[in-house]
Amino acid sequence: MAGFGKLILLILIAELIIAENSFHYGKSATRRSTSDCQTCCNDTCLHMDCLREASATVKNMDPEADPCTDFAEFACGNFYKTAIIPPGQPVTSVIYNIINQINDAMKEIIEEESEPGEWAYVKNMKNLYQSCMNKERVEQIGVQPYLNTSYAKEWPTLIGHHWPGESTFDLNDVMTKYFATGVTHIFSFSVKQDFKNTSKHTLNLNAPEFTLARSYLMKPRNDSVVMAYERYLRDLAIELGAGPTEAAQDAADVVDAEIKLAHISPSKEERRNDSNLYNPTTLAELGRNLSYIDIPRALRASFVTANITLEDDQEVNVAHSGYFNRLEGVVNSIGNRTLQNLFGFNYAISKVEDLTDRLQNIYFEYNKALYGAKTRMPLWLSCLWKIRSVFPYAISKQFVRRRFSEASKTKVLSMIANIKAEIEEMLQNATWIGNKTKAEALGKVKFYSICKTLRSAAPSEPSSPGVNSKSHHKHTPNIQPYTANMKT
Ligand SMILES: *[C@@H]1O[C@H](CO)[C@@H](O)[C@H](O)[C@H]1NC(C)=O
Ligand SMILES: *[C@@H]1O[C@H](CO)[C@@H](O)[C@H](O)[C@H]1NC(C)=O
Ligand SMILES: *[C@@H]1O[C@H](CO)[C@@H](O)[C@H](O)[C@H]1NC(C)=O
Ligand SMILES: *[C@@H]1O[C@H](CO)[C@@H](O)[C@H](O)[C@H]1NC(C)=O
Ligand SMILES: *[C@@H]1O[C@H](CO)[C@@H](O)[C@H](O)[C@H]1NC(C)=O
Ligand SMILES: *[C@@H]1O[C@H](CO)[C@@H](O)[C@H](O)[C@H]1NC(C)=O
Ligand SMILES: *[C@@H]1O[C@H](CO)[C@@H](O)[C@H](O)[C@H]1NC(C)=O
Ligand SMILES: *[C@@H]1O[C@H](CO)[C@@H](O)[C@H](O)[C@H]1NC(C)=O
Ligand SMILES: *[C@@H]1O[C@H](CO)[C@@H](O)[C@H](O)[C@H]1NC(C)=O
Ligand SMILES: *[C@@H]1O[C@H](CO)[C@@H](O)[C@H](O)[C@H]1NC(C)=O
Repeated sequence: MAGFGKLILLILIAELIIAENSFHYGKSATRRSTSDCQTCCNDTCLHMDCLREASATVKNMDPEADPCTDFAEFACGNFYKTAIIPPGQPVTSVIYNIINQINDAMKEIIEEESEPGEWAYVKNMKNLYQSCMNKERVEQIGVQPYLNTSYAKEWPTLIGHHWPGESTFDLNDVMTKYFATGVTHIFSFSVKQDFKNTSKHTLNLNAPEFTLARSYLMKPRNDSVVMAYERYLRDLAIELGAGPTEAAQDAADVVDAEIKLAHISPSKEERRNDSNLYNPTTLAELGRNLSYIDIPRALRASFVTANITLEDDQEVNVAHSGYFNRLEGVVNSIGNRTLQNLFGFNYAISKVEDLTDRLQNIYFEYNKALYGAKTRMPLWLSCLWKIRSVFPYAISKQFVRRRFSEASKTKVLSMIANIKAEIEEMLQNATWIGNKTKAEALGKVKFYSICKTLRSAAPSEPSSPGVNSKSHHKHTPNIQPYTANMKT
């Protein structure tokens, strides 16, 4: 959700940049066409930008289609017929043109030489990108640094059939250890604005995000995508040195376990149901309520990596508390080896997913089944996506600093003011809303603003995970805690 919000913001920003540029090119033409039409069509915007947008919209439509029968065909029919999915890109859409422009702009920023006195987070970003792009060096180093970690050394699949940890397994120890690396499973957390008071942030708990989306995990066990995911896990483990028998068995068991977790997770519809999203509590109370699992300890381990100490009275919101109640039964039904493997596989994915050429091929086979991808993503783009996931705020901030003019910001603010005024008037006019509700709604409109977001170009340095120039490895530091003290 947060990612989606950021995407929307970037798109908005990019659109403004595009509008801004076209405004300069088209100034004189615009003036003429506007005055020509002043007597005939006061309701029609004949600004260059409006003409461009209208033309693009019409080009994507299929006017032959009957909007009453198939509106999608009417609105997008020609786009369906003519759009070409660029190589290395799994999907396309009208929005993708903008996403591609953003990526090109970000590439330019991230490939610039470092300047003296540059903020550490910018240097960190550039270092990560360069080490990711250094293919030769990446191949040379390979997966050895990963195999050298205690995480690899305690991963049952790599150890083999006889796993010495079976009888001493402790889920809380394992969770704590992996949460500190940013590998969360079984449940997820994020720092979010409080639903009912946007001026404060709370810690939000939720069902886990799965590597393979829940909607696939809910399909029949032999579904082609589910099976491709299982093969991906198996082949990844084998590439890292696991025995083929153990890899196949453990991959199948992990998929079974994730399917169980998916079944107790909220569906897309349930995730949208606000009445399940707000269950405020404190960290201490949460710990008392859920005795089968030590969630506070895992969360503390994660936040300590950003020097944040979570106190007992830390406000926590449990979205979908039903999930956490159902989780106990499922955890008890999954064997120790598989529980440890859930973290082992996910840790491996987070570190080496597409690191070497051979791993990229394994990952590509999975993406073929999942998205119908036809070619591997270009290296620069996969490195850029990595930057965007590790430094989501930092890269956006650089982007805004470079590409977002003060004039665009003023336009956005006046656009927001206009939209607000219009919504207020509509509310005032509405006869179907009671006075009390109307007053509440008007109160909310007052607070509706993305000004806060636009302030992200302010000259303060966000804290960021450290990456040095030797981070040739796919490096995914635990970024969640950093979002806590980032005022975006
Ligand atoms: C268009 O707007 C101008 C100025 O506001 C007004 O004088 C004119 O009558 C309008 N024309 C039409 C066709 O509405
Ligand atoms: C593996 O770790 C050991 C110590 O823990 C270290 O001496 C060695 O250099 C490491 N090897 C690699 C390839 O990272
Ligand atoms: C799994 O771990 C628990 C401790 O968390 C232990 O009591 C149990 O005996 C282990 N199961 C097996 C089969 O060893
Ligand atoms: C919202 O949160 C802020 C910061 O914690 C607090 O000062 C304020 O009183 C809260 N507002 C309401 C209406 O609870
Ligand atoms: C899955 O199994 C069912 C019955 O066991 C079979 O009818 C179906 O064709 C299989 N689907 C795939 C994709 O193999
Ligand atoms: C939303 O959740 C509440 C509480 O669980 C439930 O009573 C309600 O029916 C749900 N609404 C929808 C539209 O599913
Ligand atoms: C904790 O348990 C109490 C008593 O069972 C319950 O009223 C409360 O809603 C629970 N809180 C959470 C966050 O689950
Ligand atoms: C956390 O604090 C320690 C000691 O003050 C410091 O060395 C370290 O850089 C800090 N880490 C972060 C991420 O701020
Ligand atoms: C509100 O009502 C006034 C008077 O009827 C009307 O002129 C105006 O267009 C309405 N505004 C909206 C946004 O519906
Ligand atoms: C709502 O407010 C309007 C104007 O403020 C008033 O005329 C109307 O009677 C109120 N309606 C109710 C149901 O109180």
